[in-house]
Amino acid sequence: MNEQIIRDVVGELKDPFLHRTLAETDGIVSVTVKPEKQHVSVKLAIAKINTAEQMTLQMKVVEVIKAAGADSVGIRFEELPAETLEKFRGTATESEAQDLLSPLNNIEFISIASGKGGVGKSTVSVNLAVGLARLGKKVGLIDADIYGFSVPDMMGITELPVIRENRIIPVERFGVKVISMGFFVEDNAPVVWRGPMLGKVLDQFFRDVDWGDLDYLILDLPPGTGDVALDIHQMIPASKEIVVTTPHPTAAFVAARAGAMALQTDHTLLGVIENMAWFQSQSTGEKEYVFGKGGGTRLAEELRTELLGQIPLGQPDWNETDFAPSVYAKDHPIGQTYATIAQEIIDKTSK
Ligand SMILES: Nc1ncnc2c1ncn2[C@@H]1O[C@H](COP(=O)(O)OP(=O)(O)OP(=O)(O)O)[C@@H](O)[C@H]1O
Ligand SMILES: [Mg+2]
Repeated sequence: MNEQIIRDVVGELKDPFLHRTLAETDGIVSVTVKPEKQHVSVKLAIAKINTAEQMTLQMKVVEVIKAAGADSVGIRFEELPAETLEKFRGTATESEAQDLLSPLNNIEFISIASGKGGVGKSTVSVNLAVGLARLGKKVGLIDADIYGFSVPDMMGITELPVIRENRIIPVERFGVKVISMGFFVEDNAPVVWRGPMLGKVLDQFFRDVDWGDLDYLILDLPPGTGDVALDIHQMIPASKEIVVTTPHPTAAFVAARAGAMALQTDHTLLGVIENMAWFQSQSTGEKEYVFGKGGGTRLAEELRTELLGQIPLGQPDWNETDFAPSVYAKDHPIGQTYATIAQEIIDKTSK
C-alpha cells in the first residue's frame, strides 16, 4: 500500500454530482499514508458538501481504501473551487441544469431578509422579481415565509398550482413563477406546524416544483433572527442575500443581526435596500423623512456591503381589472426605482 495505489483506487470513484471520476475532477486534494499504523487519510473535494450524497461516497471511499490494505481511514471533504464547477456546468444534463439543488444548475438564488417584521421584505421580493422579469430574466419566487405567507395576496394571484406528472407547476404572474404555502392552506387557516414539517415543505418547494429554466430564484424569508429564520437559512441553498431595513438607525441595528446570520449560514451579502425611506409630497415635491434617515447607509457600512437602493413610501396604482395590491406598475416612480435595483442586481451577478 502506498500513496499512488490509494490515488488510483479513490480516483476511480465518482463525484456524486458531477458524475465524473475524482481523477477527472481533480478531486483528490491530498493523501497521507502511515504504513506503520496501516492508516490512510485523504482529503477530497466534491461539488457539494454536507449532503446525503457525500455520506454515500464516504462509505465507498472507506471500503476501497480498506480493500487496498488500510486498517483505518480518515476522510475530510471540501468543496471544489468555483472555476472547476464552472467548467463542468456546461456538461450538465437538462435535468441537472434545472434541478434547484444541483450544484450544476446555473440559477442565482437571492434571498430577502430583515431583522424585524413589517419592513417590506415581501413587497421588495415581489417587486424585484417582477422587475427582473420585466428586464427579460426568467424568474421564480418562493414565499419561504411558511407561517406568514403573503405573496399570493400581494400579487393578486387567484389561481392555484396544478399537478402534472407528480410535479407541482408554479403559478405564473407578471412573468414570475410563484410558489407559496398559501396555495396549500385552505381558507387562510393558520399554519401551526413546527420544525420538521417546515423542512419538508421547503424541501418540496425545491424538489417537487417544476421550475423549468430559471435565471433567478428569489426567496422571501420570514422576518427576524429567531429559530424559524435560522432554520430556513440553513435549509436553503447558498444564496446572495439582500437585507431590507427602514431608515431609522435603530432599525438598521436590528437588521445587522440578520446580515450576521446570513454570513454565519454560508450565504453572501449582495447589499441593503432601505424601504420607506421618505415621503414625497405630490404638491410641493418636498421629501419628509417620516421614519428617520441614514439607516440604510449605516447598515451597509456595518455589513461592509453596498446600499442597493432606497424606496420611498407610496402605494401602487390599483387596477380593478388586474388587481395586484403590492405590485408597482412599470411607469410608476417606485416601479422605476425597482427597475434600477433589478438592473444593479443583474450587473452584480453577471447574468
Ligand atoms: N414603500 C412602501 N410604501 C408604502 N407601504 C409599504 C411600502 N413597503 C411596504 N409597505 C407596506 O407595509 C406593510 C408591510 O410590508 P411587507 O408585508 O412587505 O413587509 P414584510 O417585511 O414582508 O412583513 P412580515 O415581516 O410580516 O413578513 C404592507 O402593508 C406593505 O403594503
Ligand atoms: Mg413578509
